[in-house]
Amino acid sequence: MSKALRITQHGAPLDVLQFIEGDTTGARPLDPSEVRAAVRLAPIHPADINVLEGTYAALPTLPATPGNEGVAEILEVGSDAASAGWRVGQQVAFAPGSGTWRQRMVIQESSLTTVPQGLTQEQAATLVVNPATAWRMLHDFVTLQPGDWVVQNAANSAVGRCVIEIAAALGIKTLNVVRRPELVGELKALGADAVVLEDVKLRKEARAITGGAPVRLALNAVGGDSAVNIAGALANSGTLVTYGGMSKQPFRLGTGQLIFGDLRARGFWITAWYARATRAEKDAMLEAIARIMRQGHLTPSVDNIFSLNEYRQAITRAMEPSRPGKVFFRP
Ligand SMILES: NC(=O)c1ccc[n+]([C@@H]2O[C@H](COP(=O)([O-])OP(=O)(O)OC[C@H]3O[C@@H](n4cnc5c(N)ncnc54)[C@H](OP(=O)(O)O)[C@@H]3O)[C@@H](O)[C@H]2O)c1
Repeated sequence: MSKALRITQHGAPLDVLQFIEGDTTGARPLDPSEVRAAVRLAPIHPADINVLEGTYAALPTLPATPGNEGVAEILEVGSDAASAGWRVGQQVAFAPGSGTWRQRMVIQESSLTTVPQGLTQEQAATLVVNPATAWRMLHDFVTLQPGDWVVQNAANSAVGRCVIEIAAALGIKTLNVVRRPELVGELKALGADAVVLEDVKLRKEARAITGGAPVRLALNAVGGDSAVNIAGALANSGTLVTYGGMSKQPFRLGTGQLIFGDLRARGFWITAWYARATRAEKDAMLEAIARIMRQGHLTPSVDNIFSLNEYRQAITRAMEPSRPGKVFFRP
């Protein structure tokens, strides 16, 4: 029996989340293809809040333990999982949405990903979702060369910071939009080439900022006016990838941006990428990201770490704007 968070219905996060001391889901005997794991650290992402609210695209069958990602240690391995190469003591992460806000979990080996060597626990606990999202968006839509520019909003978000650091490691330049002036120096220190506030009209200013270099990729986590603004930085036939909607405003583009700018609007969801990627593709991407991490980059900013029974403070904090970093559970 162990501790876990659980929901039996969707609604306001603090109304629906329950703390369970006698969770038995991680204690049952293993099927051959399963492993038992002890979760060591798990972040609270915006998508986790959306799962609690019932507004996320992929919702678990209820009752369920939320928690999109985390890092865990394998405690026990079924016979088929052992044949697939999993070992007791190994550090693992999970396919997004595996339900990590608990001490023990039993999970199919096909849902595990190997955690590369040499990462901090915070890096390992946040490897699978945000750095991977940044990595895929920088690789899968436009062929970028060193020296090319990318524009993004919510640049201080966890994903935005990953975009800055991965782009810098690849020699790609970033034009970053934030809504608070105190973030400018911090993001430049991470490797951002330019950081501007939301009220800078990029349709007019982008060329001056990039020295006339075309911007062919825009990454949108906000929607509404902010999406229109970053699209204004794009060169003709540029691509805008939407991966989040933090403003809760519908995604918009100007009619002229589509007609005269021939812009392409795409969407990206890392969960769908993991569902179609092979184990070799996942391992190759995570190792490439880990190489950048081992050089001292992609260290997630930690706002606070809570135990599971402190879930009310944890969720309240995770839902506050202007946080300096992620909120985590240490189960
Ligand atoms: N599609 C995918 O596969 C995928 C994968 C990972 C994440 N995401 C999405 O990406 C987004 C960022 O996730 P994260 O974990 O990086 O978030 P995070 O670290 O919690 O950061 C949240 C960001 O959103 C900004 N923000 C909050 N409310 C806003 C509003 N009303 N208007 C404009 N900006 C607002 C914050 O700005 P302040 O600091 O100024 O408050 C901050 O930059 C979320 O929508 C998440 O669901 C999508």
